[in-house]
Amino acid sequence: MKNKEIIDLLNQDLTGEIEAILIYMRNSFVTSQCKPSRTMEEIAKDEMRHAEKLSEMIVDLGGVPSMLHKELDFGQRGVKGYLKKLVSLEKGAIAMYKDHIEKIPDKKIRKLLTHILHEEEEHLEEFTELLKQM
Ligand SMILES: [Fe+2]
Ligand SMILES: [Fe+2]
Repeated sequence: MKNKEIIDLLNQDLTGEIEAILIYMRNSFVTSQCKPSRTMEEIAKDEMRHAEKLSEMIVDLGGVPSMLHKELDFGQRGVKGYLKKLVSLEKGAIAMYKDHIEKIPDKKIRKLLTHILHEEEEHLEEFTELLKQM
């Protein structure tokens, strides 16, 4: 696999992380209940760390972090709708990281993506648990 192809895959991951950061931050601000709001804020910070790691890797490979995001969909209005949206974003991220870990042969990159994947799995658990409590 050429560096260019790896950079493209990592930029896809980065796009997902930026989407998550923006949606989680916004939903955290408009959620009045303390616990879900704080959780969204904390997890947005995790996603920022993921974006940072991905960007470093992209630059190390000679690429440029794209810093793009898709059109933002915050989910249906209200905390339940927001949490449902976040659950679906985490599921999407998990599927994408699993796919990219399988595709990318570089050991160091796979290790880092696997670490991120495990955090996404924890995020999914946290959001799912919060949703159950609503
Ligand atoms: Fe992430
Ligand atoms: Fe996540």
